[in-house]
Amino acid sequence: MNTFVMDQQRAQLIQTEKMSAAGNLLAGIVHELNNPLTTILGFSELLLRDGKVSDAPRLEKIRAEAERSVRIIQNVLRLARADDSAPQIIDINESIRRTAELAQYQIRLNRIELDLNLSERSPKVLAHSGEMTQVLLNLITNAIQSISMVRASGKIQISSVVIGDRIRITVTDDGRGIRPSDMPRIFESFFTTKPTGTGLGLNLSRRIVREIGGEMSVSNNKACGATFTIELPIVANTVGENAECSIDDLDLLPPDRSVLIVDDEDHITELIETVLRDCGYRTDRLNDGAPAIELMQRNQYDILICDLHMPGVSGRDLIEWARVNRQNMRVLLLSGDVARTDVNDYARTYGIHFLSKPFSVSELTKAVQRLSS
Ligand SMILES: Nc1ncnc2c1ncn2[C@@H]1O[C@H](COP(=O)(O)OP(=O)(O)O)[C@@H](O)[C@H]1O
Ligand SMILES: [Mg+2]
Repeated sequence: MNTFVMDQQRAQLIQTEKMSAAGNLLAGIVHELNNPLTTILGFSELLLRDGKVSDAPRLEKIRAEAERSVRIIQNVLRLARADDSAPQIIDINESIRRTAELAQYQIRLNRIELDLNLSERSPKVLAHSGEMTQVLLNLITNAIQSISMVRASGKIQISSVVIGDRIRITVTDDGRGIRPSDMPRIFESFFTTKPTGTGLGLNLSRRIVREIGGEMSVSNNKACGATFTIELPIVANTVGENAECSIDDLDLLPPDRSVLIVDDEDHITELIETVLRDCGYRTDRLNDGAPAIELMQRNQYDILICDLHMPGVSGRDLIEWARVNRQNMRVLLLSGDVARTDVNDYARTYGIHFLSKPFSVSELTKAVQRLSS
């Protein structure tokens, strides 16, 4: 191997290490932001629902922006986390929309118009959502770079279309296109035509796509620019999808259940209590795990809603206690670590319902409804 390639690989390794340190830091910050965002989102939803505000349109702006912040940090977190879990069934249109949102700033900055033209069906594929985001983001970034080399503004089109048992995704730009002599080489690792390029984006992307049984190709457009095409096998939709439920569905909740709510954040327990009491539940709330066990010994609760990470007695301890002593009690686990695979695995192994923070009022209602039925 020549020294140029070795130097490149070393630089890439150092960069990977840096990214992973940054990823951990970021995950910590995001985790801390989840509680305040859940509070802002939840209480503004409640105020809007109850009509208690003089200026509802302004409050709606606050609510919508909190919701947008949630999506941004969740997207970043998904991307930053190393994904060592098994691939999951994901909605590819959803991946495209999320990635587009993540790239929105870059797109706007370069005066580019982004056009999504997604299949009406929501095709599911077996993949890591973080990796899918990475592939799409690589293609969008390349498209932006290609456009800004030749013009002051441009257009990127992303489309998805179902063809038999496969989904075809195309990313088209009106940039400078690919020189015919470069065409056979662009998927090679370290092949780059950019002064500061790594030449790894496309190579990695195609590897990810092939690992899940797909293929990736490229061609130049007739007029200008290039089109990248990804084809992936669709998986049959085996998991029953949950019907969307709005705040109006609160009435449908079976009333008169008793719920114990435990979270070290006072605002969160208050929010959950307000929502559940509104629909006739009896609730107790605590900000500490230890007295929760005492309370469960004294009272019978139908449902336990608890945070996973609490100082002292954790959510996991409470669940272990309940599994031994209160076998009929349903549990809803809350956690801000959306993309942590160990949390997901834990919840799945024990069949525990799981709600990731930040959640909206309707997501909370839906989760409790699923528990009660
Ligand atoms: N949308 C595109 N339009 C024109 N050329 C592209 C496009 N995407 C990729 N390329 C070419 O392929 C090369 C390799 O891309 P990539 O693997 O992402 O590495 P990098 O972006 O670091 O150069 C780029 O340097 C560029 O020459
Ligand atoms: Mg690139």
